[in-house]
Amino acid sequence: MFFSKVLGPLALSVGVTLAATLTQISNYGGSAASKAQMWIYVPDNLKPNPALVVVIHSCQSSAQSYFKNSKIPWAQGSDKGGYITLWPSSPNSGTCWDVSSKSSLSHNGGGDSNAIANMVTYAIPKYSVNASRVYVTGGSSGAMMSNVLAATYPELFIAASLYSGVAAGCFVGSGVDQWNNACSGGQSIETAEKWGDTARAMYPGYNGTRPKMQIWHGSADTTINPNNYQEELKQWTNIFGVSMTPTSTKADYPEKNYALSDYGPNVEGIYATGVGHSVPAHLAASEAWFDLP
Ligand SMILES: *[C@@H]1O[C@H](CO)[C@@H](O)[C@H](O)[C@H]1NC(C)=O
Ligand SMILES: *[C@@H]1O[C@H](CO)[C@@H](O)[C@H](O)[C@H]1NC(C)=O
Repeated sequence: MFFSKVLGPLALSVGVTLAATLTQISNYGGSAASKAQMWIYVPDNLKPNPALVVVIHSCQSSAQSYFKNSKIPWAQGSDKGGYITLWPSSPNSGTCWDVSSKSSLSHNGGGDSNAIANMVTYAIPKYSVNASRVYVTGGSSGAMMSNVLAATYPELFIAASLYSGVAAGCFVGSGVDQWNNACSGGQSIETAEKWGDTARAMYPGYNGTRPKMQIWHGSADTTINPNNYQEELKQWTNIFGVSMTPTSTKADYPEKNYALSDYGPNVEGIYATGVGHSVPAHLAASEAWFDLP
């Protein structure tokens, strides 16, 4: 009796097996031009009116492999916090997200961003999600898509936390899912006003609230040049009408050699000195930004 009571919970707390499973939802509807897959993780201890975090994978990954990636501990966060995680899976060859075409860079443009927005609007009533607690995160191509979603669907997301991406619109190209060497190489340098205009043009006339943005990048990133960190901060400080001079900074946050810069309540940057591509997800700091659990 004594042992079963003590060892039961102990065994659970040290185990790595998640009780619930990642499940595909095949009938969410897609979008006009994107057959991105929708996968969802609903933890056993789901809270009433749960929060929802969209977790977007990098290139050469998928919903299923990102879910299992030990550097992306959002399933564990979901189990502990009782919130849902939604894992889109890219339909494109090489599995990068389309962050280059006009359709994906436009509100209701029919591309990958539209498909992910449709996953969110499908999930909200289906799982009684609190629509005031919907968030987006991602790494690399998933971070680029997080920026694109913040610009194209500002009404859906309360906050974003993105790792090693580029400003919304930086990867613009003449077609679907194109690599942009100037942007990845850190040569797409614009004024804050220009980046703000680029994001605003993705949903012309939108005048509601916008997601607050937490932006991470590593100084030793040789895939997505670290110049992109400043360009993202220019974009979102302009959107929120605040200065590019931080209101405060904090060294060694959330760990040694990372530094936090605050730009008021809606934008913060975290620059990781010596860290390459991609900065691993920092669950506690991203959850804090999302006000989770
Ligand atoms: C939904 O979330 C908002 C923001 O956190 C909160 O104020 C509200 O009470 C929540 N609603 C429900 C029904 O839980
Ligand atoms: C802008 O605000 C007006 C008035 O509140 C509203 O009717 C309109 O739908 C808004 N435009 C968009 C694109 O949300």
